Amino acid sequence: MLGTNEIINTAWRKGLAVPAFNIPYLPMMEPVIGAVRAEDAFALIEVARLEWIKFEAGGTAAVAREFKRWADTEHVRLHLDHIPVVDEDGVEVDYLSIIQEAIGLGYQSVMVDGSRLNLEDNIEATRQAAVLAHAAGVPIEAELGAVLGHEAGPLPPYEELFASGQGFTHLEEARRFVQETGCDWLSVAIGNVHGAISGALKDQTKMAAKLDLDHLQKLREATNIPLVLHGGSGIPRDYVLGAIKAGIAKINVGTEIRQAYEKTLRSKGSVSAAQSAVYEHTRWLLCQHFGLSGDREKIGASVSTEE
Ligand code: 13P
Repeated sequence: MLGTNEIINTAWRKGLAVPAFNIPYLPMMEPVIGAVRAEDAFALIEVARLEWIKFEAGGTAAVAREFKRWADTEHVRLHLDHIPVVDEDGVEVDYLSIIQEAIGLGYQSVMVDGSRLNLEDNIEATRQAAVLAHAAGVPIEAELGAVLGHEAGPLPPYEELFASGQGFTHLEEARRFVQETGCDWLSVAIGNVHGAISGALKDQTKMAAKLDLDHLQKLREATNIPLVLHGGSGIPRDYVLGAIKAGIAKINVGTEIRQAYEKTLRSKGSVSAAQSAVYEHTRWLLCQHFGLSGDREKIGASVSTEE
């Protein structure tokens, strides 16, 4: 079987992408994996620390257990999303222990998020996490730039942020960051924002973010590694397709499928109805929005040689 890193790199070289779906509630696992299989696509299933702190994912072990119930490696792999060095509430996190624990549980790729630190400290934290992951043969994603949205409270005015490029991943910093940290994939800020997770904001329909595709293309040239688009919910299709062509090889999607689950659970009071809503929405995303149905073979996920 090909490793996750090889699959992501194949997608990247071919101008394709792998979606990564977040699991804040364990009953979402079955319908998300079912949808990926039904579309004969390939996806990562991921959980971020905030999804067991602020939602009901349970923790790395609970997610790994649920994943194993439904997964097959030709369609899905397990990824550890955002393990912050400093979290959205400003709390310092023992990030290396969490990453180590997840690797021990069989997570096939991991993320360290030092994006709230200054450049030097982000490089150092990411380098340490990369040494740990690579010692276990696991690829690691890192983040540079400010993909806002997870912090409490409303965003600063979006149009102003986008027009000024404030918080965008800086080209020269990105070049240096990749060389000095050894990270395998880089999450970049190019106008994308995360869906809100706190208070009443978490139930609102997410705004349609724009992407600076010229800047993305330059980041691709500066870094020459697969780039990751966080905040994948609600981005208009043309931007998403343009981003895939310009170097995005992994697209994280959380809010859209979480809200499909929560809203249906609230209105119908039934977990299985909520699961059906997640299934339908995930199929729609794969087929209609991302156009990634049937891509499993193209990116080598069906190749059954040993890693
Ligand atoms: P959205 O919730 O905006 O889709 O972002 C998900 C994400 O980037 C998780 O890392």
